[in-house]
Amino acid sequence: MFTLEAIKTIKKSGTVAPSSKFLVKKMTKPIEDNDNVVIVEFGTGNGVITEGILDKITDKSQILSFELNEAMYLDALESLPEDDRLQLLNESALEFDKFLKEQDIEKVDYFVSSLPLSLLKKADIHYLMSKVTSLLSYGGMFIQYQYSLGKRDLLKGYFSSVRLGFTPLNFPPAFIYYCTMLG
Ligand SMILES: C[S@@+](CC[C@H](N)C(=O)[O-])C[C@H]1O[C@@H](n2cnc3c(N)ncnc32)[C@H](O)[C@@H]1O
Repeated sequence: MFTLEAIKTIKKSGTVAPSSKFLVKKMTKPIEDNDNVVIVEFGTGNGVITEGILDKITDKSQILSFELNEAMYLDALESLPEDDRLQLLNESALEFDKFLKEQDIEKVDYFVSSLPLSLLKKADIHYLMSKVTSLLSYGGMFIQYQYSLGKRDLLKGYFSSVRLGFTPLNFPPAFIYYCTMLG
């Protein structure tokens, strides 16, 4: 189902296949759960990364995961286990802050993003990243994967440190950006 919908909406999904278990591992590796950790995911897809995050966090932590495409949202809703720590939202990542505000969540420890940045308008990326940087907790991290290095300089403009990871074991092979505001 994911692949069919991803191809049908390629200009928004930016992919043809869900992330591999190797990419999921790299996307979730830095997540340290010291309880009450808030994680915001952009681009749930079929929930493969969401599941990887759930495997790493304790009962007191939570994930808000945003998926714009209704068919993909419904697919994730069906395939992911019911879990009190998880809120799946059929909403745009660009408006994530409204949902945090409604729930009195002031800071986010990890943003985990699969958004196809290369397909988003520059103004939309700026709109999103301004909110991300203002809501990221001290010591928090923005984690993003992409299939090219095209947005590396752009991300460097928002964070003081952008560390690069890579996995060839994904289709297509993927770069992972680990972005922080510290050193
Ligand atoms: C590259 S796929 C990644 C899916 C999944 N996380 C994975 O790694 O396999 C990107 C996902 O982002 C979703 N997406 C694109 N723009 C979005 C937006 N503005 N808000 C929320 N989701 C969006 C697409 O529908 C698609 O499911």
